Amino acid sequence: MSREVVLALDLGTTGIRALLFDRSGALVAGSYRELPQIYPLPGWVEHDPLVIWQLTCEVIAEVHAPGQFHIAAIGLTNQRETCLLWDGPTGEPIGNAIVWQDRRTAPLCQKLVAAGWQGPIQQRTGLVIDAYFSATKLAWLLEHHRPSINTLKAGTIDSWIVWKLTGGQAHLTDTSNAARTMLFNLQTLDWDAELLALLNIPAEILPTIKPSIGVLAHTDHAILGYSAPIAGILGDQQAALFAHGCNRPGLMKCTYGTGSFLVAYTGDRPILSRHRLLSTVAWSDTRSTGYALEGAIFTSGACVQWLRDSLGIIETADQTAALAGSIPDNGGVYFVPALSGLGAPHWDMEARGLLIGLTRGSGRAQIVRAVLEAIAFQVREVTDALTADTGTPPQRLKVDGGAVRNDFLMQLQADVLGIPVERPALIDTTAQGAAFAAGLGTGFWPDYDRLVAERPIDRTFVPGEHQLATQATFAIWQRAVERARYWA
Ligand code: G3P
Repeated sequence: MSREVVLALDLGTTGIRALLFDRSGALVAGSYRELPQIYPLPGWVEHDPLVIWQLTCEVIAEVHAPGQFHIAAIGLTNQRETCLLWDGPTGEPIGNAIVWQDRRTAPLCQKLVAAGWQGPIQQRTGLVIDAYFSATKLAWLLEHHRPSINTLKAGTIDSWIVWKLTGGQAHLTDTSNAARTMLFNLQTLDWDAELLALLNIPAEILPTIKPSIGVLAHTDHAILGYSAPIAGILGDQQAALFAHGCNRPGLMKCTYGTGSFLVAYTGDRPILSRHRLLSTVAWSDTRSTGYALEGAIFTSGACVQWLRDSLGIIETADQTAALAGSIPDNGGVYFVPALSGLGAPHWDMEARGLLIGLTRGSGRAQIVRAVLEAIAFQVREVTDALTADTGTPPQRLKVDGGAVRNDFLMQLQADVLGIPVERPALIDTTAQGAAFAAGLGTGFWPDYDRLVAERPIDRTFVPGEHQLATQATFAIWQRAVERARYWA
């Protein structure tokens, strides 16, 4: 008898992961493949859609031992905003996917701002005009590839993989992904016809928008040897919010991946930010839609990779905690991680990275410490904006993502925020959230609250003796941020 499991597919920026969860909610198998990044020009980032699909097939094949497991439901979660075009009948991509970090459409965004679209776009989509979102990327792809519209499909990575998993039967996305395109109207919960017209994007090439939770499509028999329901689709940050149990106003999480994404659940109506946060869909089912405020920070874990791969001053990310902790303070060295411009709360596409305060005495340890501080300080900027928007200071931060293994960083985060930081035992929270959605969407699991309550917490970091000193350091770092702005 094979064991019934839920398969979570996490289609991330830097890698593709498959995890299997059993009925007790325990993780029983996992597989991961790194996704190659393509940098055709400075500021451009692309992914090969066929490689994403191939790696997805590989991780599924690796975890799905036929006879041992039977997949009762599939949950998808994905890097958001990244989008592509493909030909429906052949399933062939038209060019590469343009990744969320890609800045090539900044000039088009500037034109939209100059034409007075910032207010209307925020009102309709909850977003700030920025090259980050899919809308201008899709406009670019259409303009540069000039495909024949008749059989054309467009979508974010969830839509692409659903198309492939269903053998070309389903072209859909969920509300949490649609909300990141800058084409989705938060009030009507549908594509905004005027924004589509503004950017010359034909409505018929876009996916149908579905709830995040519930049976949405079925996989082609060839994928698993039987057909399984795809019963949950969530953007990766919303998936983590769901897994952390943040389903009430006041609850928030931060995921530390390539970037850092702080998301706070706000309730059943969108709240427009007055402090340059994004208003977005948290998730939806057939009955209701939940909303969130988000601070999207473009570069965090990526700057540790940069220390390792570009500067070569560390060999592994794990070394950073000991190096940063080997000195009593940053020695006056500050780092602004504007490597892809600055996201929330600045939204400055022209900002560039800055290392400042160097002296003859500055070395590896100071630079590494400045980088870790910057990761934590960016989150503090966003929680400040959130407090200003909601009037309620945060009480606790739930965290996940690869960088939360770093105890030094987590203590720093608690110190600069002045609140406890809670780290779960399973830090692949995005995949867990997709699994929860799919398992709840099919009835595999009956009770969301119980699933959340049974997740073990590994450690809670509480603000410590360095709290005041860290907060003073944060104030100086903010001056460095000002110097990094409007540079490019
Ligand atoms: O908005 C971009 C975000 O969804 C990417 O997340 O974890 O793949 O870097 P990640």
